[in-house]
Amino acid sequence: MILVTGGTGLVGSHLLYKLALQNNSIKAIYRKSSNLLAVKKVFSYYSDDYEALFNKIDWVAADLLDVTTLKNAFENVTKVYHCAALVSFNPKDYWKMRKINIEGTANVVNFCIDAKIDKLCFVSSIATLDKSVDSDIINEESEWISTRNKSGYAITKHGAEIEVWRASQEGVNVVIVNPGVILGAGFWDNGTGELFSKIAKGFNFYSEGVTGFVSVNDVVKIMIALMDSSVINEQFVLVAENLSFKTIFYEIAKAFGKKPPRIKVNKFRSSIVWRVATFWAFITNKNPILTKNSAKSLHTKSYYSSDKIIKTLNFKFEKITSVIRTICTFYNQK
Ligand SMILES: NC(=O)c1ccc[n+]([C@@H]2O[C@H](COP(=O)([O-])OP(=O)(O)OC[C@H]3O[C@@H](n4cnc5c(N)ncnc54)[C@H](OP(=O)(O)O)[C@@H]3O)[C@@H](O)[C@H]2O)c1
Repeated sequence: MILVTGGTGLVGSHLLYKLALQNNSIKAIYRKSSNLLAVKKVFSYYSDDYEALFNKIDWVAADLLDVTTLKNAFENVTKVYHCAALVSFNPKDYWKMRKINIEGTANVVNFCIDAKIDKLCFVSSIATLDKSVDSDIINEESEWISTRNKSGYAITKHGAEIEVWRASQEGVNVVIVNPGVILGAGFWDNGTGELFSKIAKGFNFYSEGVTGFVSVNDVVKIMIALMDSSVINEQFVLVAENLSFKTIFYEIAKAFGKKPPRIKVNKFRSSIVWRVATFWAFITNKNPILTKNSAKSLHTKSYYSSDKIIKTLNFKFEKITSVIRTICTFYNQK
């Protein structure tokens, strides 16, 4: 029996869809506040038979931070995909993120050890990889150097990775994937889905920072292939292409038949915007539209290599322009 955490999010829902297609017995955890209809919606993008596929999943109410409910979820489980996390660049969420991402992963790891499961796949992020001094290309060898200038998100995902390596030391077979920015359909009001919604409505700004991008379908295909393989205790960067935000925003606008964004956000402009946004968020008690760390990442140029996964699985990533076109088609059907 397979257990999926984070099944009500972008990665987890796509993973559940692929696992359901393969006739696996699957359990997934959800919370009272989770949106199961959003998961069904994702399934409906890919199959007319989405109700039947969705009904193959045994949904178990559990929270990463509630060990009693989590213990129930682990009954008869042999493989675990741990996708759940709090993804936030709002400094206000730092301590909550430490709880969910580090303590929550420690709880998952403890149950994996207790249940003597066969294998655990953990979804980390490229945020945990530092540029090394002797190369501009970041890969699995690029070690975490220090917490200086790191986002709270990066610090907590790094803490979660340490918990997963602890599992491997305790005899659990593990694989860790470190995806770049994940592009996928559904969840249009948060994460990268919100980017598509904003550009569809005529977003007019861009920046020239560069980072790694990958499609959610490639991420989950790789996770399943790694779990079904003999590969253990390894970590893999998952980046299809290193592209500028300008290119990504232009491609999305083009796919929607909109004019490309015209206003370049330079460092000076964004430094003013994040300060005003932080102040405004403080007054209104809402999430800031830009934070110090997200403003910084808009201008940073980081290049990643996925050679290791390409060689290990003989994998071919889908081109990002094609990924964007498909996502925009689904957006238009929503
Ligand atoms: N999206 C990206 O660009 C990206 C890039 C690199 C790595 N990642 C990593 O990929 C993973 C999945 O990301 P995503 O984009 O799918 O995130 P997402 O859409 O925000 O989904 C997060 C999932 O985690 C669950 N969750 C959060 N707190 C929980 C708790 N206390 N107990 C149980 N479940 C909890 C959420 O459940 P609810 O539905 O109940 O809130 C949801 O299912 C994360 O580990 C993230 O760090 C994401």
